[in-house]
Amino acid sequence: MKPTIAPYPATRLRRMRKTASLRSLARQNTLTPDDLIWPIFVMDGEDSETPIASMPGVTRKTVDRAVLAAKEAHSLGIPAICIFPYTGMEARTEDCAMAWDPENVSNRAIRAIKDAVPDIAVMTDIALDPYNINGHDGFVENGQIVNDRTVEALVKMALAQAAAGADILGPSDMMDGRIAAIRSGLESEGFQDVAILSYTAKYASGFYGPFRDAVGASAALKGDKKTYQMDPGNSDEALRLVERDLREGADMIMVKPGMPYLDICRRVKDTYGVPTFAYQVSGEYAMMQAAAQNGWLDGETVMMESLLCFKRAGCDGILTYFAPAAARVLAG
Ligand code: PBG
Repeated sequence: MKPTIAPYPATRLRRMRKTASLRSLARQNTLTPDDLIWPIFVMDGEDSETPIASMPGVTRKTVDRAVLAAKEAHSLGIPAICIFPYTGMEARTEDCAMAWDPENVSNRAIRAIKDAVPDIAVMTDIALDPYNINGHDGFVENGQIVNDRTVEALVKMALAQAAAGADILGPSDMMDGRIAAIRSGLESEGFQDVAILSYTAKYASGFYGPFRDAVGASAALKGDKKTYQMDPGNSDEALRLVERDLREGADMIMVKPGMPYLDICRRVKDTYGVPTFAYQVSGEYAMMQAAAQNGWLDGETVMMESLLCFKRAGCDGILTYFAPAAARVLAG
């Protein structure tokens, strides 16, 4: 529908921009803490945090500190926290068995957070990369990332996370058939109410670099992830993936990275109208923080603007390392 618009001077679009109150009255999209999922990095040990050089302001936290972060998130009105494990070379094996160990650091963090802050939703990551000797999201055989054997392992990983109390599972591996396999595993093991937020349109991106430092994968990773993550030139393929994941039992859909892929967010939302999320990834965070630290951009302004733009592009929420800082700004 095309709005009728009277010619100037009957129409002066600047009228509604005149004051802060008129602007807020007319504003179409807003950001609230309800829109945020906060990704955090957990590691072994007690009562300590280590900074991540390429992500200024972000630390890896021991489980007890992750619990404090969850309490902080909850008090700021952030509805969900997403856990990623930092793993050293000793946790990485060919068979990735640690990935479904109930006592791995993620599963311990899930239990500790759900115990201390039951009301916060805990989201997980499902992919073998933190536990894989070669840093890939799937098993490698003869130089190839194999699909079906990986999916079997991902189901075990999902069930261990669900048993630990996770509310939302986040398969980030991009194997084919994993949503159906995880969903049917959850149904048969009595976890029918555990949600899946699928990393559906996950692109093979250079913007994940700082994250791979954060989780200890940079040194381990051999080669790239282009045989399973999407080609940045593709758009229609994202819709095929969304359709497939919805048919297989995903509750929510994610586009990743975020800012360079807002066109994909919009297409997904317009086409399917399902809960749609974007991941503002580590490299996006690093760019803005680096520019702010240099005094080249105003950090708070670009943080809030970038998050609001996801809403405008049709997203229902955003995974962002800025979550607590943004929620603090929103609280005034
Ligand atoms: C691993 C995973 C990655 C991210 C989330 N889960 C990295 C990758 O695929 O190599 C990236 C998140 C970020 O960059 O902030 N499966």
